Amino acid sequence: MYPKFPLPLLVSSAKCFRSCVPVRAFQHLSRSSLRIPTRRYASVAAPQCHSSQSSDSPTVHSFFEENTSTWQYVVLDPATREAALIDTVLDYDPSSGTISTTSADRILSFIETHGLKIKYVLETHAHADHLTAAQYYKKKIQVPVGIGRRISTVQETFAPIYGFSPSSFVDTFDLLFRDDEEFSLGNLSCRVIHLPGHTPDHVGYVIGQTVFTGDSIFMPDCGSARSDFPGGDAKALYSSMQRLMALPESFRLFVGHDYPIGRDQLCMSTVGHQTDSNKHGGKGISESEFIAFRNARDAVLGTPHLLHPSLQTNIRGGRLPRDTMGRLAFKIPIITSVEL
Ligand SMILES: [Fe+2]
Repeated sequence: MYPKFPLPLLVSSAKCFRSCVPVRAFQHLSRSSLRIPTRRYASVAAPQCHSSQSSDSPTVHSFFEENTSTWQYVVLDPATREAALIDTVLDYDPSSGTISTTSADRILSFIETHGLKIKYVLETHAHADHLTAAQYYKKKIQVPVGIGRRISTVQETFAPIYGFSPSSFVDTFDLLFRDDEEFSLGNLSCRVIHLPGHTPDHVGYVIGQTVFTGDSIFMPDCGSARSDFPGGDAKALYSSMQRLMALPESFRLFVGHDYPIGRDQLCMSTVGHQTDSNKHGGKGISESEFIAFRNARDAVLGTPHLLHPSLQTNIRGGRLPRDTMGRLAFKIPIITSVEL
């Protein structure tokens, strides 16, 4: 059962409101949004290369998008030059309502420079903190967009909130993966694993001895992601973290975000490192301790800066919404205690 969203007044706007709402945060929309500071909108840091000694694992090129602290990945089979993109970012400046493709164009340039054949654009889940660039890549290099099949659950949750009809979701995602579905990337075998808790649709991609975890686990010193979105669940998140940590300890885990304190951004750990050191769910931390911590922590977290624009874009595979006059625009739910 999904937590029930308050019924908001939907207002269409070409500009975007600053923040909004996972479950609890829906009740504090105005207050939360007013607290959020102005941010800079720019860039993608230089990519990092993570090669593997194992012939059945990919070479991973990571690109950090600093405005949303998102790791984007180009995942490459070195033998065939076939590659996949995972969790890409479409740049969006809410203060001006401007979409740009600086991040995506840098990755496209990287792809061209290195002669890569992109086979898939993959999403780990319906992100609530950044917009996916999946449709932009699909348009530019004609690749299918894939996500776990439970995206339909998330679409059903948010469609009435944003006024999306069933036809809004036609021609958005091309691949809806089943649990444990397998596919190939060049000579590499890939498997989709369900990792719920942060969101209900969340999957990870196991490619050889490498896993792209999305937000099902963070770097050991950051721990875990919030679990208070609709369909999120701390108990399920703990189980997903344990599922990852049950893999062979040498497996590499690439995370979806990083929010470091006192160090540079990192994207990769190993199962062994996570088991030893994950501060929220590593060894010695029980399920009940994790749930108590996670629920208490989520209760005081602010709302994601780009929640409404992200969801309206990401549940449609990166297609931007239009208003009744055909103009590109996001709808922003408003909660108010006064009749105005
Ligand atoms: Fe997320």
